[in-house]
Amino acid sequence: MEFRDRTIILGVTGGIAIHKSLDLASQLVKRGACVHVVMTENAIRLVQPLQFQVISRNPVLLDLFDAGTDWKPPHIDLADRADLLAIVPVTANIIGKLANGIADDALSTIAVSVHCPILLAPAMNGHMYQNPFVQRNLTTLKTHGVHFIEPASGDLACGYEGVGRLNTVETILEGAGNILTSTVRSEVEDLRGVRVLVTAGATREYIDPVRFITNRSSGKMGYAIAEAATQRGAEVQLVSGTATVSPPVGIKTQHVETTLEMYDAVLEAFNKTDVVIMAGAPADYRPHEFTPHKIKKTAGTLTLPLERNPDIAQTLGERKTHQTVVCFAAETDDLLENAKKKLGRKNCDLIVANDILAEGAGFQSDTNIVTLLDRDDRCEQLPLSSKRDVADAILTKVVSIRNSAK
Ligand SMILES: Cc1cc2nc3c(=O)[nH]c(=O)nc-3n(C[C@H](O)[C@H](O)[C@H](O)COP(=O)(O)O)c2cc1C
Repeated sequence: MEFRDRTIILGVTGGIAIHKSLDLASQLVKRGACVHVVMTENAIRLVQPLQFQVISRNPVLLDLFDAGTDWKPPHIDLADRADLLAIVPVTANIIGKLANGIADDALSTIAVSVHCPILLAPAMNGHMYQNPFVQRNLTTLKTHGVHFIEPASGDLACGYEGVGRLNTVETILEGAGNILTSTVRSEVEDLRGVRVLVTAGATREYIDPVRFITNRSSGKMGYAIAEAATQRGAEVQLVSGTATVSPPVGIKTQHVETTLEMYDAVLEAFNKTDVVIMAGAPADYRPHEFTPHKIKKTAGTLTLPLERNPDIAQTLGERKTHQTVVCFAAETDDLLENAKKKLGRKNCDLIVANDILAEGAGFQSDTNIVTLLDRDDRCEQLPLSSKRDVADAILTKVVSIRNSAK
């Protein structure tokens, strides 16, 4: 649904993975998008524009000075109508131009003219991708809010192996869909302008340079909450530990590894936040000492002293002023009793309790079974639901808590 009647400029550059862009154009058209292809001169040397013209059902823009009869220059006309500019594949060359505001052909000129989100899917030889100038340009673009579908690793067309393969068309479609969904506000805009901080995923507590303690959190619950909150109009910031799925494209995400890093990131953002939802699973303990070299095995047992990590939820409960704080209680025994105790102990406003041993609930799963407990002892038991539906139920509850506090 996210693609229907949306105008997408598909930039195509001179990369060897260009054929995947034909498939992408076709998939976008099938999903109802209005696709306008813009090709660079070098792209034309790899694929005939006619192929894109037939697939996209629109003329392909090649040259700004030789296009259209309208009074409006073609790059401004297209840029004004676009909901998304996706450049697939994007070469090192165009990445460099974009990062430096260079506009010397149709595509790079459109890129500096659009006021819609930009999504880039890089593909190139591994050495090109690792090149420090290319990496610097990528960082520049990321810090300016350009979205990326990161390249995958594997066999490269140039005969090398490594990172640089264009990601799959499905992944690119998913990323584009997420961006388009987040720019069309859902009908329920009950979080418009509310600043929501979400934690997701597991932390890693390093024992030595190669070993760490972690947990089974997949990040899926937190990512679903971040996506749902964005669609309900919130300004979302995600603090993510490690996850088994890619973070949602189009949401401001800070990646962290350890509980201490998650603690610092959350505390730093806390004062500028209205709602915090802690779906992440920070480790309670870390090794007392990090051994800077790999620990050698010996014949005997190894005892690893652990020390407590700071308790993020507890700290927020102590420091909160106007914020609504939501904690998760992942339990294996006495679910409701333990969750209720946690609600009081952490001084949070809502506890999402889940029995992680129940079928279809907890870590890794795409579904969850949760009970929402608030400070007025109201208890809402949700049936087995997708994590996205659970996310919406939590947010509906958050809105009602905030409304009753007004
Ligand atoms: C056969 C061939 C394949 C290429 N594949 C890539 C590629 O995958 N990624 C890339 O960044 N450059 C690739 N290049 C180099 C670019 O085409 C070259 O940097 C060009 O100047 C890019 O122009 P454009 O960005 O305007 O399309 C390739 C060149 C050739 C000849």
